[in-house]
Amino acid sequence: MTFQPGSPINPADPADPSDSGAPSEPAAAGPSLLDRLGGRDAVEAVVDAFYSRVEGDEELRAVFPDDLGPGREKQKLFMEQWLGGEPRYSERYGHPQLRLRHFPFVISERAAGRWMRHMTGALRESGAADDLVAELLTMLGPLAQHMVNEGQPVPREPLADPYLS
Ligand code: HEM
Repeated sequence: MTFQPGSPINPADPADPSDSGAPSEPAAAGPSLLDRLGGRDAVEAVVDAFYSRVEGDEELRAVFPDDLGPGREKQKLFMEQWLGGEPRYSERYGHPQLRLRHFPFVISERAAGRWMRHMTGALRESGAADDLVAELLTMLGPLAQHMVNEGQPVPREPLADPYLS
């Protein structure tokens, strides 16, 4: 996949000010990433598998709130949208602003690595084709890096805007 330089939705650019976390449009017509993965059911299965892995990872689990449920459901809506599906996440919660939404959670380089490892496992487990898994991981790597905020002077208090909470 190619990314449009300067596109407001370029996940390859961690400095992207729009921070939508959304992939750019495919350069040529063809099945969306969502279709290639297997649609909504497949996304939900990947997110469930990812969260199971987080649950089993004491170190990463500690970064997440006690109740994993709401975050898991948001992640499903987001992922579907991010892969080219219906924008149900933004309809409910507004602009993703992912980095900002992660400010209340201290995210280290190590946590980003573990996040990527579990997402890799979840994608592989889903039976997605190797080239699709590689493509998705290439897109997710910079995004995970963009979430790292340990040691940075970012506001840690819970987000006040209900649209962002
Ligand atoms: C780098 C490591 C990452 C860590 C440790 C991390 C951790 C977290 C935590 C603790 C939450 C809050 C969950 C809750 O409120 O229940 C969260 C929410 C979320 N994360 Fe991450 N995350 C990481 C990377 C990513 C990446 C790369 C993406 C996108 C592909 C992502 C997408 C989301 C979404 C969509 C939400 C829900 C946001 C909301 O609407 O409140 N995260 N993440």
